[in-house]
Order: sequence, then structure tokens, then C-alpha cells
Amino acid sequence: MKFWAFLTLLALLLPEAGPASLPKKERKRREEQSPEESKAHAVPHVGHDVPSVDDYHEVIDLSSYEEDYGDQLPEVELSSAAPPAGTSPARSTVPPRTPSPTLTGTRPTAPGRLHSLTSGGLPTCLVCVCLGSSVYCDDADLDHLPPLPRTTAYLYARFNRITHVGAGAFQGLTKLKRIDLSGNLISSIDAEALHPLPALQDLILSENRLAALPPLPRGTEILDVRRNRLRSSGIQPEAFGALERLQFLYLADNLLDAIPGPLPLSLRSLHLQNNRIDSLQRGAFCDPEEHRHTRRPLEDIRLDHNPINLSLFPEAYFCLPRLPIGRFT
Ligand SMILES: *[C@@H]1O[C@H](CO)[C@@H](O)[C@H](O)[C@H]1NC(C)=O
Repeated sequence: MKFWAFLTLLALLLPEAGPASLPKKERKRREEQSPEESKAHAVPHVGHDVPSVDDYHEVIDLSSYEEDYGDQLPEVELSSAAPPAGTSPARSTVPPRTPSPTLTGTRPTAPGRLHSLTSGGLPTCLVCVCLGSSVYCDDADLDHLPPLPRTTAYLYARFNRITHVGAGAFQGLTKLKRIDLSGNLISSIDAEALHPLPALQDLILSENRLAALPPLPRGTEILDVRRNRLRSSGIQPEAFGALERLQFLYLADNLLDAIPGPLPLSLRSLHLQNNRIDSLQRGAFCDPEEHRHTRRPLEDIRLDHNPINLSLFPEAYFCLPRLPIGRFT
């Protein structure tokens, strides 16, 4: 009888005890499944010099765990609260069962902590999901860009309510390769905002309210500004000429009345459908002085749904591997 009573008591108590009472393997498995956990794991990737409030809470929680469960402390959780010492996200720099004094020592004291907070006072990687070098902030109700971890290479902040990109938005993000801000309300980007991004390749700004383009990073390969309010006056005369790696230039569904140029020789796709282009300037695609010159890569030009009659400019296409798509009669 006593034995059964003990078992019943045990059965009642077990669910209360929570994850710490589970066998180590089971705990690990659960943690792998939980999205909350994967968010917490991503925290240390965030920022080495900017410990977040999230870290802070983890630290406090762990201290009490430590008291209660001592050596049962799961290794995975410990590492998520580890000080941002190493560069490796997988880190095992902190051994399991680190005593709490070491942990409390990781409490952020620097004013730099504020740097990792969003406008609402929440750490970036709580509002967004940080996975490796990617930061996913899609559909997160953001009205401006949160400060990003220095290691960010891929930023997705689609479908928010961002209206402006300030000069410091991407400061110091030397690894940033892709920015995707499509589906926001961006009407202005500061001139200095994108310029100091040495690694940037893909800039996706489709479905916003831009009337003008800021100066672009030289390494840009894909520029997507479809479905904005771009006017020809909002594109600097030399905006694309110096972008020697630009391959895809998507400017459809805007208010352009001329073909932007000069276009770099690396260009493969030029999409200008659904604009107000009614004329072709001399040399828009081909150098009129150099008749042997060809632009083999530029195979995909779209000028459909523009008021232009492409038949009026028969000498404009001689260097192209294919005629543009559009109205020819
Ligand atoms: C387009 O230009 C060509 C060549 O001048 C002309 O024959 C044709 O009628 C024009 N089409 C339209 C719709 O204006």
C-alpha cells in the first residue's frame, strides 16, 4: 500500500517538476523541438559586445536553477546564457556546471546594452529570430529597423511598417550580404545608410514608397525596387554605372519616364515594365560610336506596359542578344 501511495505522489509531482526532472536525453529532445528555445539559443550569436536583456533573464533563471537542481543543470541551457566570449555559435567554451558567480559576472553593465534594444525596449533577437548569421524580422510589426548583431549577413524584415531607413541603420555591419525590406512603407533612405556596406550583394526594396534611390554599395548584384514610386529624377545619373557587379535591376511598376543609364556591362536583366517611359535616349543600351560592341549578358529587357513605341528606335538594339519585350508596332 505504502508503495502505491508513493507512486501516486510521484506521478503527481513529476509534471510539476518541469524539464529539469526529465532525463537528460528527453530534455535535449524537447529543447530541440521548441521554437522558443531555438530563439534563446540564437541569442549568443547576436552580439558579442552587446549582451541583451534576454541574456540577463537567462542568467537570473539559471542561478535559481542551479540552486534547485545543481548538477542536473542542462548543458544546452547553460550555453545559451554563456558570456559572449567566443566567436563560435556552437560554443562549448563554458563547461557544464559553471558556478553561478561566473554566470552573474556576465550581467551586462555597459551602456552598449541599449544598443541591442528595439524601440519597444525588447532585444532584437526576441522580436526577430536570429539563426546563425540570419536575422528574420518578417511580419513583426516593426516601425523601424532594430539594431542588428554585428555578425548579421542576411536580414529579412519584410511586411512591417518601416517608413524610413536612417543613416546609422546598418553601421558597422561589414558582413551584411542581403537586405530584404520588401512590403514596408519606406519613403526615404538616408544617403549614408547603404554606402558603407562592403559585402552587400542583394538589396530588396520592392513594395515600398520610394521616390528616390540612395547611393548604392559598389558590390550590389541584385537591386529590386519594384512597385515603388520611383521617378527618373530620383535616380542619380551615375547611380548604376559604377556598380560593376550589378546583374539584376528590377524597376518595374514605378513612375519612371526614361531608361536609367549608363548601365553596367555586367547587367543581365533590366525590368522596366509598367512605367511611363515614352522615349529611348541615344545609347540607352548600345554605344552608338562603337558598332562592333555587344552586350551579350543583357538578354532580358522588359519595356512592356510603357507608352513607348519601340519601332521608332531601330538603331537602339544592335548590340543586344535579344530585342526588348514591349510594343513594336
Ligand atoms: C510605331 O512606330 C512605327 C514606326 O514609325 C509606326 O509604323 C507605327 O505605326 C507606330 N505605332 C504606333 C502604335 O504608334
